[in-house]
Amino acid sequence: MKVLAIQASANKDGLTSSLAQAALEGAKSAGAKIELVHLNGMEINSCKVCGDGWGKCRTDGLCIQDDQFQILRDTISEADALVFAVPVYFHDISETAKSFLDRWRRCEWPHEDKSVLKAKPVIGIAAAGGSGGGAVKALQSLENYFIWLRLSVFDLVPATRFNKEWRLEGLKAAGRALSEGGR
Ligand SMILES: Cc1cc2nc3c(=O)[nH]c(=O)nc-3n(C[C@H](O)[C@H](O)[C@H](O)COP(=O)(O)O)c2cc1C
Repeated sequence: MKVLAIQASANKDGLTSSLAQAALEGAKSAGAKIELVHLNGMEINSCKVCGDGWGKCRTDGLCIQDDQFQILRDTISEADALVFAVPVYFHDISETAKSFLDRWRRCEWPHEDKSVLKAKPVIGIAAAGGSGGGAVKALQSLENYFIWLRLSVFDLVPATRFNKEWRLEGLKAAGRALSEGGR
């Protein structure tokens, strides 16, 4: 069992990242191999909306842009389970998370028959480190991407700096359960 966490904050040891790492710690304690990807450190552009609005991704399942998008897709396909943690900006998911998720959704959803994501479990985390406002709204947005991607939603966690302490504990437990294949 390999669990991959993707965290989308610029801060490698901030709130978002530590929540993702808690889930990985739980998964590791149950024997999983783990990997953490810092999305902001990758070169992943936003969707260029090529063609007539329906790009080649609709027919080929591949993006025409030459950046690190496909590298991350390949890393994801090798994982058995995922953790996706986003910082909350303006009551929504962050720009880098959106850039990746927009392109990923376009490439995956028309190709259900050959999708490697089908039923792959995912824990979604939204970290609202300011007032705490927008955590649930960002999480709803994240869930919507997961549905189009046909991932299997294992857990959705709205986190703030006020509930961080028990969210970290909960995520360790969720990571353990994820790696044991339970729900
Ligand atoms: C542009 C921007 C917008 C933000 N908007 C919100 C917000 O709507 N609600 C909130 O609680 N925090 C907001 N914050 C704080 C972030 O959610 C906080 O930085 C986030 O938890 C990421 O922290 P981390 O980088 O330590 O992971 C914002 C931060 C930035 C930089």
